[in-house]
Amino acid sequence: LSVISQLQLPPVVLGCGNFGGIGSAPAFFGQGETEEQAFAIMDAAWALGIRWLDTADAYGGGRSETFIGRWMRATGNRPRITSKVFHPMSEGGDRGLGRSRVLRQLESSLERLGIDRLDLYLAHDFDPETPLEEVATTFQGLVELGLIGVWGVSNFSAEQLVRLLEHGRPACVQNSFSLLDRRDEQDVIPLCREQGIAYQAYSPLCGGWLTGKYRRGQPPPPGSRMTLRPEPYLHLDHDGVYDLLEQLDRRAAARGASMAGLALAWVLSRPGVSSAVVGPRRPEHLQAVVEARALAEVGREPVLP
Ligand SMILES: NC(=O)c1ccc[n+]([C@@H]2O[C@H](COP(=O)([O-])OP(=O)(O)OC[C@H]3O[C@@H](n4cnc5c(N)ncnc54)[C@H](OP(=O)(O)O)[C@@H]3O)[C@@H](O)[C@H]2O)c1
Repeated sequence: LSVISQLQLPPVVLGCGNFGGIGSAPAFFGQGETEEQAFAIMDAAWALGIRWLDTADAYGGGRSETFIGRWMRATGNRPRITSKVFHPMSEGGDRGLGRSRVLRQLESSLERLGIDRLDLYLAHDFDPETPLEEVATTFQGLVELGLIGVWGVSNFSAEQLVRLLEHGRPACVQNSFSLLDRRDEQDVIPLCREQGIAYQAYSPLCGGWLTGKYRRGQPPPPGSRMTLRPEPYLHLDHDGVYDLLEQLDRRAAARGASMAGLALAWVLSRPGVSSAVVGPRRPEHLQAVVEARALAEVGREPVLP
């Protein structure tokens, strides 16, 4: 029998990984969306009813949390917030999930955000140097102190999750999941369903690949992620992927939707997926969320085999 998950996540969460950088990579700290652009994206998301933001201490070297904190003070809006800990905040800075580091990083996240409690706090990655018992007791202790609502983990394999469950119970797993990254269907998603753990998909558009901006035999458009940080996606540049993208394009056109809208609808319709974290670069990109919501209302027919 599956346990009912205690954590109610909204279907769509706004990812703030592009604010002031490209995720946690120190080489891009200070780049990415400016504060003004980030405010415009958060305003547009709020107007669409998106009430949960996803960030991390290391996104933009702290800029993502700082921009969110300033936006909340400027607008009076108070979304729910996920933050994370693991990656260094500067080139060569310390990393990991050791107890004293997590406490220090949480304190600095709360300060940048200007709040006294996070709704969801995630271990941003598996840390081979910190015993899982220490990780579980540290995060559970933060819940008991009232500094976070619930905790979870990100980028964990099924095997790492099984080992973690011997020591504590995360409320959420946040992993990469999209039409072009279906690895978790094999084990992590079924395990989360069985254990009553919410599964949240990040990179539902596979970093932009599922929007149609990358075409067979053509160079990536200027300024796109493939021109800035291509390493995680180089394996996608082959015919099988372009065949799938062309199929997605045809099916989206048949429904009057964009590829991004249909790809997001696909993620949200997968059994066991509670929520997706989207990463728009500008307000217009949120049109994909509007389309995905409309497609979800049409029915739960499979959008691709
Ligand atoms: N836990 C983790 O380790 C982890 C890892 C990655 C992400 N995340 C979270 O998940 C969020 C989303 O991740 P992601 O940025 O990889 O998500 P994504 O939605 O798969 O990809 C975002 C990229 O797709 C392009 N894009 C998005 N919407 C578009 C649209 N409607 N039309 C055309 N292009 C569009 C942009 O590419 P261009 O930049 O090329 O314009 C954007 O940078 C992050 O902000 C972060 O909060 C978490």
